[in-house]
Amino acid sequence: MAELVIAGAGPQALSLSCLLLQKRPQWRRRLRVLDPSGTWLAHWQSQMGRYEIPWLRSPSPHHPHPNPHALRRFAQESQRLGELEGPYGLPHTALFADFCRSVVADFQLTGRVQAAAAEEIRLPPSGDAAIELTLSDGSVVAAQRLVIATGADAPVLPGWVGAIAGPHPPEALQHSQALDLAACHGLTGQHLVIVGGGLTSAHLALGALRRGARVSLFCRRELRCKAFDADPGWLGPRYLKDFRAEPCWHRRRQQVLEARDGGSVTPQLAGQLQQARARGHLQLNEGCQIASAQWVQGQWLLHCRDGSRHCADRLWLATGHHQGVSHQPLLRQLQAQRPLALVDDWPVLSGDLCWPGTRVHLMGGLAALQLGPAARNLFGGREAAQRICRAAIKS
Ligand SMILES: Cc1cc2nc3c(=O)[nH]c(=O)nc-3n(C[C@H](O)[C@H](O)[C@H](O)COP(=O)(O)OP(=O)(O)OC[C@H]3O[C@@H](n4cnc5c(N)ncnc54)[C@H](O)[C@@H]3O)c2cc1C
Ligand SMILES: NC(=O)c1ccc[n+]([C@@H]2O[C@H](COP(=O)([O-])OP(=O)(O)OC[C@H]3O[C@@H](n4cnc5c(N)ncnc54)[C@H](OP(=O)(O)O)[C@@H]3O)[C@@H](O)[C@H]2O)c1
Repeated sequence: MAELVIAGAGPQALSLSCLLLQKRPQWRRRLRVLDPSGTWLAHWQSQMGRYEIPWLRSPSPHHPHPNPHALRRFAQESQRLGELEGPYGLPHTALFADFCRSVVADFQLTGRVQAAAAEEIRLPPSGDAAIELTLSDGSVVAAQRLVIATGADAPVLPGWVGAIAGPHPPEALQHSQALDLAACHGLTGQHLVIVGGGLTSAHLALGALRRGARVSLFCRRELRCKAFDADPGWLGPRYLKDFRAEPCWHRRRQQVLEARDGGSVTPQLAGQLQQARARGHLQLNEGCQIASAQWVQGQWLLHCRDGSRHCADRLWLATGHHQGVSHQPLLRQLQAQRPLALVDDWPVLSGDLCWPGTRVHLMGGLAALQLGPAARNLFGGREAAQRICRAAIKS
């Protein structure tokens, strides 16, 4: 039986694996990591590549190695300090990727990801019996403890998308999760409408502009400009102390939502968008929401709630992902077998991020009621790893 099975091999899972092996090297043989890609950080690398993201939004101490200084030290030793951007040392994407590869090698985790998805969970009736997992290859794995670190859930699709009548070419309407800028051919001269107001929408807009498209960015509010997803006070005790002392889960949820305040773009990208707008290449439609879309004679006809009408050749949705138990197949199964309290679909986990009454832990955005607004970020991965590691070692 595996001591610990981790579903997912993204940065959050890597943070936990490294910390665990640093504390308990003898657990190496009993740690099992599953990911359909069969490699570490495949989804992370894919999204950075597909949106042509030059550097991370998070500062240099945020990464999967247990020592926060490890990335800066790696940059220094490989004479790549120039790839730490600005006062916060935002790591360039290539530096971060090389660093993570070195972390995987240092912790002897190369080749340790099994190419399979966790598809079904069966919890034991009680006590110390094993958790059973059915994998996408049909095999069954028994685990003493399970960590679900499977990342973002289903894409957010605005309501009007479901009401589109009749067929349209698949490339005419795409969510960001299916988009790869390098694979988008024939954008020159096309008019693209991008729906969103977060950093993904900004990267996609700039990528399309580089390829000669005309871009209209439709933000349902005013475009918000922030260096990070939430104020840096949320990355330490300044705000987290009071957050952790808040006994009401509903108020905690409200604090998380208010701290993130929807999507936002960094000052650097906001500047690039403004330049494109000044040159007449980008149209910024703030406070604008699409009410309906029709595919007519090879073009989108868009009706907005403010009564305006627009045409477009392609529609890209950079509307983010749902975060909630009901959007995650594995968590729906847990909820059916061992129901727990939900606050607007967010699970009320115990302090060690355990699904109460089980030995299943969650990492990522759905640990936000415990970890705060940065739960889904690299910072959240470090925090979650510490809590889960303590629980695993104690038992
Ligand atoms: C474009 C983009 C850029 C970002 N940049 C930053 C940044 O600079 N800094 C920052 O802090 N945050 C950033 N984020 C937030 C980001 O989501 C997290 O930092 C990070 O990817 C989350 O790591 P994760 O391990 O939870 O998820 P992921 O990286 O998504 O990894 C989850 C893995 O689980 C696997 N998986 C899914 N289902 C199963 C299953 N059933 N069984 C087994 N495996 C499964 C997936 O294949 C995937 O590889 C960014 C997000 C996006 C979308
Ligand atoms: N490292 C990087 O450079 C980088 C690049 C991309 C993303 N990221 C990170 O990745 C995470 C996700 O970013 P994201 O931009 O993909 O998602 P996001 O931050 O969740 O933003 C989604 C955007 O879509 C809008 N939206 C949602 N539903 C909508 C609807 N029905 N109609 C119209 N608009 C709708 C939201 O509007 P509201 O704002 O009104 O809610 C929001 O602006 C963030 O943490 C971000 O910082 C980092």
